[in-house]
Order: sequence, then C-alpha cells, then structure tokens
Amino acid sequence: MAKGRKNGLYTEISAELSALMRTGWADTERHDLLPDEQAPHAAARRAKLSALFPGERLVIPSGNLKTRSNDDDYPFRPYSGYVHMTGDQARDGALVLEPRDGGGHDAYCFQLPRDSRDDDVFWTGATAELWTGRRRSLAESARVLGLPCRDVRTAADELAAAPGAPTRIVRGIDPALERAVTTDEDRDEELAEALSGLRLVKDAWELGELRKAVDSTVRGFTDAIADLSTAVATSERWIEGTFFRRARLEGNAVGYGSICAAGEHATIMHWTDNDGPVRPGDLLLFDAGVETRTLYTADVTRTLPISGTFTPLQRKVYDAVYEAQEAGMAAVKPGAHYRDFHEAAQRHLAVRLVEWGFVEGPAERAYALGLQRRFTMAGTGHMLGLDVHDCARARNEEYVDGVLEPGMVLTVEPGLYFQPDDLTVPEEWRGIGVRIEDDLVVTESGHENLSAGLPRSADEVEAWMARVSG
Ligand code: GLY
Ligand code: MN
Ligand code: MN
Repeated sequence: MAKGRKNGLYTEISAELSALMRTGWADTERHDLLPDEQAPHAAARRAKLSALFPGERLVIPSGNLKTRSNDDDYPFRPYSGYVHMTGDQARDGALVLEPRDGGGHDAYCFQLPRDSRDDDVFWTGATAELWTGRRRSLAESARVLGLPCRDVRTAADELAAAPGAPTRIVRGIDPALERAVTTDEDRDEELAEALSGLRLVKDAWELGELRKAVDSTVRGFTDAIADLSTAVATSERWIEGTFFRRARLEGNAVGYGSICAAGEHATIMHWTDNDGPVRPGDLLLFDAGVETRTLYTADVTRTLPISGTFTPLQRKVYDAVYEAQEAGMAAVKPGAHYRDFHEAAQRHLAVRLVEWGFVEGPAERAYALGLQRRFTMAGTGHMLGLDVHDCARARNEEYVDGVLEPGMVLTVEPGLYFQPDDLTVPEEWRGIGVRIEDDLVVTESGHENLSAGLPRSADEVEAWMARVSG
C-alpha cells in the first residue's frame, strides 16, 4: 500500500527517522536457492515460441496490481502467457525474447528488484517490501527462473531507447511497457494467439499440476458434502466457504468463482452470488475448482440431492445428462475433431428433449436447428489449464475447429436447465438444473478422466453421500 496517502496520520518524515530506518538491517540475500523444477519446461516452451517469430523481439508482460480503492489493491493474478513461458508469478515483470544474430532468441526477464535500504522507498513506497513482503533479488530470480534478470524500473526506457528488431508485445497487460514500444495491433494479436495456442497441449509437468488441482478439488467436494449432512450447510455461502478453505490450504485459491447453486439457482449458468438457502429436497449444483500454487486449475461440477436421495424427476433429468456426458466422453480421443464430444452430448440431449415433448422433433432436425439450446444453454466443454477457459485466444483452426491430440486437457460438461419461469415445461420441472463436469486428458489411446475420483452416476452419488455423511 502506498504510504503518505491523503488523510494518513503521518505527514512528515524527520531526517532523524529517515536515518534511523536506513540502518541496522541484516544482509538477507539467499545463496541457497535452486532452479525451479518448472524451469526446463518453461525453457522448452520458449524455444517453441522463438521458432514461431524468427528475427523479432517479443515482450510478454506479467501485469500490474489493480487498485481497488485508495491504497488497497485487488489480489494480483499474473498473465497466464507469462507464467507459462517463465514459471514465474511476479507482478510488474516481463519476459523479453531478443532475436540473436544467426537465429533463435536470447531470453531475459525484467523484474521488480528488492528495495534498497539506502532511501525511504523500502518503507514508504507504493511497492514497499516492508509492507508487502520480501521480494526476490534479481540474482535470486535469475537462479530460480534460469533466466538473466534486469531491473524493470528501467525497462520502458531501455525498450524505447533500443527499438532494435521489429517488436511485438502482448497488449492489455502492462500499459507502461506498451507505451514504450512501437508495435502493430494485428501483429501483437498474433503473439497473443500463439501464446494461447502453445498451451493447447500440456507437457508432463503441467499434467502433474492439473492432477494435483483435481485431487485437491475432489477433497474440497468431499468436505462440502460432509457439511451437507449436518445442519451447518444451510446456506450456499457455507458450501463456498468450505471449498475455499481447502483451496487456500492446498492450493493458491479457487480457479474461478465457485458456483454453489441450490434449488432454482442451479438454472443460472454463472451463479456466484451464492447467497441462497440449501434446503433438503432440492438439488445443489456445485461447480468449483482448486487452483494450485503454480496456478493450474481444475473445473468440476457435481449435482447433488441435498437430502441424499434424488426424487424420481430429478433422477430422470440427471440420468439424461449423465448419458449425454458418457456419449461426450466417448468421443474424446486423439484424432477426433474437437467438436465431436460437444455434438455427441448435445445430440443425446436433443433426443431426450424431443422424447419429453419439450422440443419439436424429429431429434435430428431439432439438433440441426439448435433447438435444444433453450435447455442446454452452453457449449459442452472447453480447454483447461492455467485459465479455467484455457487457450481462449488460440486460433479457431487449432482449437474449436481443430483435432484432439494427446496432452490436451478439456472439460466435458453437459447440462439441462429448466428455468423457473419457463411456461413451456410442466410446473414440476421448473427450477431444476443439472450439470455434470469432468476434466479429461487426451491420451495416446483415448482419454483419462482426471476427476474420476468423484462419483458420477445417480446411484454412485447417492451411495457416496450416504458414505460421507456416515
Ligand atoms: N466453471 C465454469 C465452467 O464450467 O466453464
Ligand atoms: Mn467448465
Ligand atoms: Mn465448471
């Protein structure tokens, strides 16, 4: 937090205080730090990026703090493209790939160094270490990241003074660095697309992190269900808080706002107010994911009967979604078109909706016209990784219009949502929402469901709830 703010109680620093503050500090430079285990993987990712942009300087910022009010900031989240290419999470940083004579690039990082104790900044500045915590020195960062590191405070001047090779920067992340370079918007977008596209296939290290994210998420779901059987979980907020505790304990945070949607809130795709009651007899649609300390997130949904047992109608809807998910998951294999799993699941739901009389048949016509979307609302899944909707800026040809490859990780998450005010369905269906969401990695022979540790079928879910509630 910036000191010396308007209405702060201290208005002046005496010369004596300034001198006192500058003296008497130990040398805490760390010489024992080892390279981060991700460093070689990040180097391999940079080599792929380098090959895409020969002879060009690339600037990939990490981002800055965003003010919430006065001297209070929102929690910082680095740009995922920076994290992927460095393994680093520092704010105010930037990766630069400088083209080398004879081909390839030299990589280095701009970082905010430690504060000197020779002036007042370390205890009065906007980024004062004494208030916000110790940072790594440039030498420490160089060892951890396996990259030369320079002082970011002179980055804008350095980049502006040495225009050098044609430059591209990822826009929208660090306005000061963006102003320092002369670039073209369309060419910059190609850099952002490339960074997004390079995340489509996860390396072995990333898959390990995603497994950790899913495993923590399974534990978080189990915590939440254990609470359901007690009187404490009478509010969606309680469920949210229970999961959040697990996320903070084992990971960094939640990878997106948890959706704790009881009763008719389950029909709201992105319900994150989570301020409703949790009542026996209703369903709870619970969509949540732990984000690891390295910022990889899970994204899992289970729809649970709060009382422990589905009503016949709830089970009918649940079974249709379950069968659609089975059909979708069966289509996840290398060489399949990315869209196949979506189409398989949506087709199945169209058949059921026609069968129930909610959509005019025949089913294939309804599907061709997209009529099922009134009740299925969303696409059946998305790539998953550092961002919950990962690789979102990748070129369509390599993502939604592309083909699945081993190492891709995606969600399969069909759902049915009958809005509480939908007069086209019988009254007892209104307010029912069901989604089942799992995280799959494409393997050489098909796929592996990373979230298989959470029961899925209606019978398994009921048995699981009975077990967890003892
Ligand atoms: N939790 C957001 C999603 O499922 O896409
Ligand atoms: Mn999802
Ligand atoms: Mn989700």
